[in-house]
Amino acid sequence: MKKTRAVITGVHGWVPDYVLTNQELETLVDTNDEWITSRTGIKERRILKGEHKGTSVIGTEAVKGLLEKTNTDPKDIDLIICATVTPDMFFPATGNIIASNVGAVNSYSFDISAACSGFLYGLSIGSQFIETGAHKKVIVIGADKMSAIVNYEDRTTCIIFGDGGGAVLLEPTQEDLGIMDAMLHTDGKGADFLHMKAGGSLRPASMETLANKEHYIFQEGSTVFKFAVTNMAEVSANVMARNNLKGEDIAWLVPHQANKRIIDATANRMGIGSDKVMLNIEKYGNTTAGTLPLCLWDYESKLKKGDNLILAAFGGGFTWGAIYLKWGYDTNG
Ligand code: UT7
Repeated sequence: MKKTRAVITGVHGWVPDYVLTNQELETLVDTNDEWITSRTGIKERRILKGEHKGTSVIGTEAVKGLLEKTNTDPKDIDLIICATVTPDMFFPATGNIIASNVGAVNSYSFDISAACSGFLYGLSIGSQFIETGAHKKVIVIGADKMSAIVNYEDRTTCIIFGDGGGAVLLEPTQEDLGIMDAMLHTDGKGADFLHMKAGGSLRPASMETLANKEHYIFQEGSTVFKFAVTNMAEVSANVMARNNLKGEDIAWLVPHQANKRIIDATANRMGIGSDKVMLNIEKYGNTTAGTLPLCLWDYESKLKKGDNLILAAFGGGFTWGAIYLKWGYDTNG
């Protein structure tokens, strides 16, 4: 009997309208367009403005668009997995809110917290439910409203992050397509270098934590950079080696969009040219769990059935990983 695999049968993304440019950041902190562009590759990022709007707004819009374009009845969805580090609330899960907003009344849902690798973890988890035959339609969302936890007085972090995300539909296939292999890693020692100090059970919110500005992202940028360059490149090379893939076999590298220099180093190590690297960091910045589905959405029209893709990410945790997948469909138009 042929193996059942999970294949992506649709992707949709969503970003808010407000564009935060490097020029506007120059008015907020001591920075400049030249530094930001040359050190990160980012020109602008999107910001979700307005009260009572959390990450569920991003996820809901992405899933609504996904259901529409794939002609899927929300009642047929079995499971929604939402990867995010900026949930609307600690509980309930943001996936629950999104499921309810889109009318996925027969679905259950949960969130996963794996920072920038969250979408990879979600894809890997979601694909297991399809491969075992437990579910027929699983939606995996990667979405973050990073502006909710960015300190716009800290020039080392506020220039990097933006808001946005996307969602994919996973369905079973007997064809030689879909999620072929995943290598996922965690190293909790990385927590020291990238975290949010307060607001959790360790340091609940108090007047003191507010005064100390501990409800924002803390990042030791250059340390995270070194780990990211090494590990994202290595795991991508490892997943290729395990599947006997050479650079020329890869149609697209889909890298987490944290810093263009990290992306270039990964592509180099994999032996693939920049023409095969998905890149949209210049217009969205780092949307954490949102970067990978946003790349797939932006490049969807260029993808062909059977294309070999390597998705790779590194982020808070530390978490990192790579997924090898064969794209499932051609897009008309
Ligand atoms: O997605 C989650 C995982 N996160 C990442 O992968 C991010 C990894 N880290 C990075 O992308 C980079 O480390 C940053 C973009 C955050 C920083 O770039 P860097 O090349 O590592 O800079 P640095 O921290 O080593 O700082 C170099 C200099 C410092 O000045 P001095 O000490 O050399 O005088 C900084 O103070 O650049 C200065 N600097 C800035 N200057 C202008 C730091 N931020 C800025 C800024 N504008 N925004």
